[in-house]
Amino acid sequence: MKVSAIDVTAERPYQVVVGTGALELLPQYVAEQRRIAVIHPPVLREQASRVRTACDCQTLSIEVPAGEEAKTGETLQRCWNALAEAGFTRSDAIVGLGGGATTDLAGFVASTWLRGVTYVSVPTTVLGMVDAAVGGKTGINLSAGKNLVGTFYEPYTVLCDLSFLESLPVEEIRSGMAEVVKAGFIADPAILSIVEDDPAAALDPRGEVICTLVKRAIAVKAAVVGDDLRERTSVGRDIGREQLNYGHTLGHAIERDQDYRWRHGEAISVGMAFVAELSRRLGLLDDDTAARHGMVLRALGLPTSYPAESWPRLRETMNLDKKTRASTLRFVVLEELGRTAILENPDEDLLQASFEALSADAGSVTGGSEGRSETGESGTLG
Ligand code: GLY
Repeated sequence: MKVSAIDVTAERPYQVVVGTGALELLPQYVAEQRRIAVIHPPVLREQASRVRTACDCQTLSIEVPAGEEAKTGETLQRCWNALAEAGFTRSDAIVGLGGGATTDLAGFVASTWLRGVTYVSVPTTVLGMVDAAVGGKTGINLSAGKNLVGTFYEPYTVLCDLSFLESLPVEEIRSGMAEVVKAGFIADPAILSIVEDDPAAALDPRGEVICTLVKRAIAVKAAVVGDDLRERTSVGRDIGREQLNYGHTLGHAIERDQDYRWRHGEAISVGMAFVAELSRRLGLLDDDTAARHGMVLRALGLPTSYPAESWPRLRETMNLDKKTRASTLRFVVLEELGRTAILENPDEDLLQASFEALSADAGSVTGGSEGRSETGESGTLG
């Protein structure tokens, strides 16, 4: 087992342990606990039972639906009832085992049960590792929108066991890589060079390259959330956690436009290509860095364009984004590699022209790739 740890120095400091075999460390993190409840989707039943055997305490398994289906009030209630029936106390712990949707739900259960019990996150997808499991956002969806109910609740620890990635379809790894590339543009350009050097290696779950990339992306997120856990409102260049939404304003609208058939990473890939073009047209970003977005994303097989005729629909959806603050349309833009800023209410013609420039881009691939992950997880939102 070769693992390394990344410190998150937020309100309640914790470590994200990354490497093949990281899950084997779980017993030492829950050594003080009397009982643990493992919340997981059915497809991870066997892994959940391995966790339970490894831990020297009473264990409870709570199966929840795969993917976003888990993030409902009904499933939440079922988890609370299972804990009540088992008599879970504050000396016990909850383990979330699965992709981003499962860990969002499990974190929410942990944050609300008895007003908060120990929570260990064990993400099993690239997206879950580099985004959902780090930073303490938990939540469930309502029919009115995704993640409308949730908490900021930091885990006791996060264990990213890279062996889970070996059973994922490549489309799922690719989707997670979009968030890794995002970390490259907003904070750590070395990520971009590593992907450009060997894009196939970046998608190989057994290789060293993916391990390096996942670690670097987690380090970016750890630094950002350590500075701004609760996502204050950023103004201009004074930007905190909101920078993690690079590519997400349009990306969220595309996800809705596709009825969530596209994976999260596919949608934000187009969103990043768009915002890079917008930044370029505003004179904020140089041509080469803007073009580099399309090149690196396409090298990974990610989409960077969307049909031009969709613009009025997407524009309307962006207005409805529940996270829109005080009715302003906000974009995270790039001023140079590693430097983001907030742009509010940009010129409408400029927005449309930037979008249309994407669909004119001949080298694009489309999103909506088939083949869901073994965990049924397709990612989680902001
Ligand atoms: N996924 C964005 C964030 O954690 O803030």
